[in-house]
Amino acid sequence: QNPYDCLKQNLRFSQDSFIFFKKKIGVLPFFHKIKDDFYQEVSMEPGFIEGIPKAELHLHIEGSLEPELMFALAERNRVDLPYNSVEELRQAYQFTNLQSFLDIYYAGARVLLVEQDFYDLTWAYLTRMQEQNVKHVEIFFDPQTHTERGVAFSTVIEGIDSALKDARREYGISSYLILCFLRHLSEDDAFKTLEEALPFREKIIGVGLDSSEVGHPPEKFQRVFQRASEEGFRRVAHAGEEGPPEYIIGALDLLGVERIDHGVQCEKDPELLRRLAESRMPLTVCPLSNTRLCVFEKMKDHNLKRLLDAGLCVTVNSDDPAYFGGYMNENLTAVQQGLNLSKEDLVELVKNGFRASFLPKTAIESRVQAVDEYASKNP
Ligand code: HPA
Ligand code: ZN
Repeated sequence: QNPYDCLKQNLRFSQDSFIFFKKKIGVLPFFHKIKDDFYQEVSMEPGFIEGIPKAELHLHIEGSLEPELMFALAERNRVDLPYNSVEELRQAYQFTNLQSFLDIYYAGARVLLVEQDFYDLTWAYLTRMQEQNVKHVEIFFDPQTHTERGVAFSTVIEGIDSALKDARREYGISSYLILCFLRHLSEDDAFKTLEEALPFREKIIGVGLDSSEVGHPPEKFQRVFQRASEEGFRRVAHAGEEGPPEYIIGALDLLGVERIDHGVQCEKDPELLRRLAESRMPLTVCPLSNTRLCVFEKMKDHNLKRLLDAGLCVTVNSDDPAYFGGYMNENLTAVQQGLNLSKEDLVELVKNGFRASFLPKTAIESRVQAVDEYASKNP
C-alpha cells in the first residue's frame, strides 16, 4: 500500500463524511431500500456506546497531550514550539506511518518538564475518561523520553501517580501503570531504566515495549524482560502493529507477554491466528491509530471484526488519542460504524477489556457483570 494514498484518504475524510451525511439525509428511504437487499445496517441508538462502563488497556499518557495543553505547558515552561498556533500544530498531524507519528510525538513531549506537568497531563486524560464512563485504565508511560532530556524518573512517576490516586478517590477510576521501554534505544538503556524503576516498584504493575517496531525485534529485549519478570512485573509488548507475525511469536515465546499490544498483523499467519484464538491471548487493538498510521487504509478494511469472529480476545483502545482523533468512545463508534458491528459485538469487545486487564479476578467478574447488566437494560 502506498502511504500517500492513505494520507490523501485522511485528508479527504472530513469532506467525504459530510457528503455521505448529506446523501444519507437527502435520499434516505431509497438508499435503505436498495441496501437492505444485501446489507443490513445495524442501528445503534445514540448514547449506547457512551453509556457502557469500559476499560482502556492501551494508552500512552504522552499521547494524550492535547495541542491546547501542549501550548499552555510550552508557555509555562518557556519551551519553544515550531508552530505558531494550536491549529497549525493540528495541521501537522498528517501521518504516513508509525515513524512519521513518533517524530512529532517525541517532539511534543519536550514541554513536559516538572512534576506538575505530568500531573496535569494525567489528570486531563482521567477527566475525559470519567466523562466517557471509563472505569479502569492501564496506562503506558515512556520514562526514557524524559530521562534522556534530563527530567528525573521520580519527577515523571510522582506526577502521574498523584493524578492516578486523585482519580481513584474523586472519579472512582481504578488504574495501573506500565513502564514501556523504547525499542529504538539499546538493551543497556532499558536495563538502566528498569534499575531506576525499582525504588518505585509498588507504583508500577508491569513493563511494555513501544516505539519504532520494524528493525527492533523482541529478542533485543529478552534479557531485560526476564529480569523484569524476576522482579515480579507483568509483561506486555507492542508487536505486529507494522512488524511481521514473527514479532508477535517472539513477544509470546521470548518475552513471555500476557497481552499483545496491536497484534493486527497476526492475520498473515494462520497458525498464529489459531494459537491466539485457542489461548485467548488478548490483543489491545487501536482502530483510529491504525487508520491514522495507514496500517489499514479505511476503517472498513480493518480486521477487528474478523479477529473477533475467529475467536480472539480483541479489545478496543485509543493508543494516542490527542494525535489520532479520538478517545475510547470515538474508537468504539468508529469501528461500530466502519465495520457495522452489532450490539453483541460491542458488548463482547468491552467485556474483553475487563477480562484482559490486570485487575484481580473478583473485580473482573463484577465489572463484566456490570457490562451485562447495562446491556440487558439497553437491549
Ligand atoms: N506504537 C509504537 N510506539 C508508540 C505508539 C504506537 O502505536 N504510540 C506511542 N508510542
Ligand atoms: Zn501503542
